[in-house]
Parts: sequence; structure tokens; C-alpha cells
Amino acid sequence: MKTVLALILAIVGVVSGDLKDLGYPNYNCPGVMGPSATVPTNAHSVRPADIKVIGALGDSLTAGNGAAATNLDGMRYEYRGLAFPIGGDKNLDTHVTLANVLLKYNSKLFGQSHGIGTQTMWSQAQLNAAVSGSTSSNLASQALDLVHKIQTHPQIDIQNDWKLIHIFIGGNDVCAACYSHTETPQIWQDNIKKAIQILHDNLPRTIVSLTGLFDMVILRTIDAANDLCKVIHGIECKCDSEGYPNFDIEAVSRAFQAKQMELQTSGIYDDRTDFTLIVQPFLFNTTQPPKTADGQIDLTFFAPDCFHFSQYGHALVAKGLWNNMVQPVGAKTMAMNYSDPTTALLCPSASCPFIRTTKNSASCAHYLTPGM
Ligand SMILES: *[C@@H]1O[C@H](CO)[C@@H](O)[C@H](O)[C@H]1NC(C)=O
Ligand SMILES: *[C@@H]1O[C@H](CO)[C@@H](O)[C@H](O)[C@H]1NC(C)=O
Repeated sequence: MKTVLALILAIVGVVSGDLKDLGYPNYNCPGVMGPSATVPTNAHSVRPADIKVIGALGDSLTAGNGAAATNLDGMRYEYRGLAFPIGGDKNLDTHVTLANVLLKYNSKLFGQSHGIGTQTMWSQAQLNAAVSGSTSSNLASQALDLVHKIQTHPQIDIQNDWKLIHIFIGGNDVCAACYSHTETPQIWQDNIKKAIQILHDNLPRTIVSLTGLFDMVILRTIDAANDLCKVIHGIECKCDSEGYPNFDIEAVSRAFQAKQMELQTSGIYDDRTDFTLIVQPFLFNTTQPPKTADGQIDLTFFAPDCFHFSQYGHALVAKGLWNNMVQPVGAKTMAMNYSDPTTALLCPSASCPFIRTTKNSASCAHYLTPGM
């Protein structure tokens, strides 16, 4: 195994080349950039500029493993500052992340991560509580860690500050679902529920944004086009490997996705007016890998292992996430074109300038409040 990796490392070192990134200069949304006139009390009336605190739970994709690595050895470094939901390195002009977009609305946002480090390194991680290698079974302990950090930080007014907690989990679950009896859609949903319940029970004024799992058949599409990726995928994702040719990775991904949607449509987290859960489905139907103009897999989207995202990949994914946040439920984009870096970064709608939720998507009139 070591020699295989060393060999791949040498080859990938050559192809990865210089580090591309993607920013969004001059993002401006006239009339809808400001906060509410008074701090909202309802989760369905929260403008992007009302968000004071950002936090995240997840796995290596949220920890940012390998995002700025130039060879396979660099995959062990957690580039939290570049991670698509919560990275705060650079700025929106040079690197798109959800946190960097929110910083345009509120320069005093708290919680975004910086640089390289694990979840235990406060200066780097801040409120990025993701732990690389995690499956859904680790999510509850991450939630407890995050709650503790929020409860104890003197800069956070836990009662009054609006918090946005992002969750992205499931890649490692699907990669084990072909052989593990504990990786069923139901157990997966139960694990996510436990984590959200901890947030719900401990955090006033909170919006939980759950990024929908990708359809992992995309791995097999890439495998068919690129031998190098195929080898590494087989190592990093057992259920994608040749050892499990009959494992229907697409059907399992779809079953997991359905379990996420159930959590939103059940309305179980809408029992309190200052808490809600939204699923962002932009990866649900993203089955086409990024391609270059000549039709090859665009390796610049990936970290050197062809599995995690590069900083460029994080930026592209962040665009999809942000756009979903301001699109109403029922009209959220469900597939990204990874090959197209020119996708516009959307503004909140003037007629409903809030983070879109199930309730303000069904009818916004009830939640309209004046802006500053
Ligand atoms: C997403 O994919 C599913 C399954 O292939 C399909 O039924 C659905 O119409 C797609 N939805 C969108 C919005 O692309
Ligand atoms: C995705 O974007 C690329 C590059 O702009 C374009 O060539 C391709 O047609 C797009 N694919 C789809 C399905 O829109």
C-alpha cells in the first residue's frame, strides 16, 4: 500500500501543478445587504446580515483536508481556513466560502476558521467542530463540543445572537455502507437527528443548514474516466472499489438523501419559533464530474487524492451552497455544473430578503419585517 501511495504521490505531484482558486469580486446586492431594523426573534425572518455566529459539524470535507496540498502527503493537513462552509481565509474577492459571503453582510461575523489545524486548535478551528474521518455516528459528540464552545465564549451572546450551524456528513457512511451493518439510511438519520437535537436543546436563535449528500455515483463516473482517481478512490472509499462491483452506490446515496429531506419536511424542528432546519440540495443531482474544455476530468477541482476538494473545488461548492440558502424551498437548484466557474453568486430576493426556510418559502408575507 505504501509503495502504491508513494508512486501515486509522485505522479499527482506532477499533474496538480499550481493552485487555482476562485473568488467573486464585486459581490453587491443593493437594498438587501443590511440587517433587520430590530434583531429578529423568528427563524424565518433572518437576513444574512443578522447572522452573528457561524459554526460547522462534519468530516474531512468540512475540516478542509488537503485543500491546498500539492501532493498526497499534504492530505493529512486540515486547511480549515479554506473549507466551503466556514473557512475565513482570504476574502470573497479571492476565495468563495459561505463564511466569506456572510462577512460581506456582517464584517463582525464570529466563528469562521483560519489556516491549518485540527478541531482542538482554537485559533485555527474557531467554531469549525468537524473531525476528519467522521461518520454520522460521531456527529453528536461534535455537536456537544460545538455547544460547549458557544456557551463558554465571552464574545458570544448566546441568547440574542443569531447562529448559523452548517452540517455536512455522509461520504464516509456511504463508503462503508456495503459492508457495515450499522450504515443503514435509518441509523444514519437517527445519528443526524441526535446531533441536531443537541443543537436544538442548547442553542437559542439558531438556523441549522444541512447540506444534502452527493449522489456518490459520481465517484464511479470519475473512475471510468481516470485510472489514477480509480486507484485512490478504491483506497479511500472501500464501497467504490472493485471489490464491491454489485454495490449500488447510487441507490444507497439516494436513500440517504431521502432521509435528509424527511428531517426537513417532518417539521420536527419547527416546534420553536427561533429554531429551524433547512436542507440544501445542490449536490443531490450533481452526477457529472468537473471537466476541462477538452473533455478530461478537471483535476484542479480536487485535492491530490482526487476525492477531497481543492481550494478551487471548495470555492465552487460554496457557490452552490450560498445560492441554495437564498433560493426558496421547492425552487432550490439541485445540480451544480462543476465545469462552470462563472455561475453567479445570487442575492437574497428583495421581496423575501431572508435565509430561506420551509415557512418563509411557503408564504413570506407573514414573516416580513423592516430592514435597517
Ligand atoms: C434529480 O434526480 C432524480 C433522480 O434521478 C430525478 O427524479 C429528479 O427529477 C431530479 N431533479 C432535478 C431537479 O433535477
Ligand atoms: C457546464 O459548463 C460547461 C462550461 O461552461 C459547458 O460547456 C457545459 O455545457 C455545461 N453543462 C451543462 C449540463 O450545462
